[in-house]
Amino acid sequence: MNPSILITGVTGNVGSEVAKQLNEKKIPFKSAVRKVGGEPIFEYGEQIEFDLMRPETFKQALFGIERVFLIRPPAIDDPRYFEPLLMEAQQQGVKHIVFLSLLGAQTLFFVPHRKIEKRILKAAIPYTFLRPSFFMQNLNTTHMAEIREDRRIYVPAGNGKTSFIDVRDIAAVAVKALTEQGHENKAYDLTGSEALTYLQVAELMSEIWETAIQYANPSAADFKAYWKSHGLPQDQINVMAGIYFTAKIGFAKKVTPDLKRLIGREPITMRRYIQDYREEFQMM
Ligand SMILES: NC(=O)c1ccc[n+]([C@@H]2O[C@H](COP(=O)([O-])OP(=O)(O)OC[C@H]3O[C@@H](n4cnc5c(N)ncnc54)[C@H](OP(=O)(O)O)[C@@H]3O)[C@@H](O)[C@H]2O)c1
Repeated sequence: MNPSILITGVTGNVGSEVAKQLNEKKIPFKSAVRKVGGEPIFEYGEQIEFDLMRPETFKQALFGIERVFLIRPPAIDDPRYFEPLLMEAQQQGVKHIVFLSLLGAQTLFFVPHRKIEKRILKAAIPYTFLRPSFFMQNLNTTHMAEIREDRRIYVPAGNGKTSFIDVRDIAAVAVKALTEQGHENKAYDLTGSEALTYLQVAELMSEIWETAIQYANPSAADFKAYWKSHGLPQDQINVMAGIYFTAKIGFAKKVTPDLKRLIGREPITMRRYIQDYREEFQMM
């Protein structure tokens, strides 16, 4: 039988977890990948070519699909790339799009996530908007090298708190929305159950890994210079600096009840995340 669920971003943070959890439940799906044949391979997730920059891949990728988990790759800022995809989804009778958006997107009219949400609404395809806070997993991706090698967290967030969320919890909500009834035309604000400063995160890491991890708290200028010296493009540096500035002034600390209500258990804590990712950080 042709799987009726399509997962985009399966090589990324959230999509890989959604695919993993569907696979564990033995629910067949299609893995939308830019290059068929590479990692990750899932027993229940046959790969299909899909590239947002190549609309000619949409027809085949959406064939027989009823539900789509859709992400906006960070490198794609222009929401117009999503228009041909939504048109094809309409034509093929897609019944539900679960879109990975951003906490507060409804008030942030300038972010691409809100512009894509609006296009989904316009396409009149039933939707679930997942609006998560800052991912814990940014620590083991973007900030992995500085933590593992320099034993410090190098972000300019001052003493601002962040309601970090584990992507495994976002994926759990996505799987529910993709496989259960009652999530159509809803938006969920997803955060962890506590807001922490980066100093508190560094202290937790130090305690659990039994090795000192500092919170460097650089100035915005030093932070930008650091990433420039690492070859990151200036626009990406500016986006990152902007995100940490919003955390610094207290805009990232909101804690919401949606996640616990949806998954029926406490969200994964920062403590548990640090324990679970110990090996990945090579802190054995
Ligand atoms: N990080 C956070 O704290 C945070 C918080 C809230 C919301 N978000 C939002 O979450 C989204 C990112 O999710 P993520 O972190 O799970 O993704 P990610 O780890 O950055 O991975 C991006 C994914 O997009 C795929 N991709 C790239 N270009 C593509 C294209 N042209 N066509 C199709 N797929 C393409 C990549 O596949 P390849 O392997 O082929 O490159 C990869 O699977 C962003 O919209 C971000 O703003 C992030």
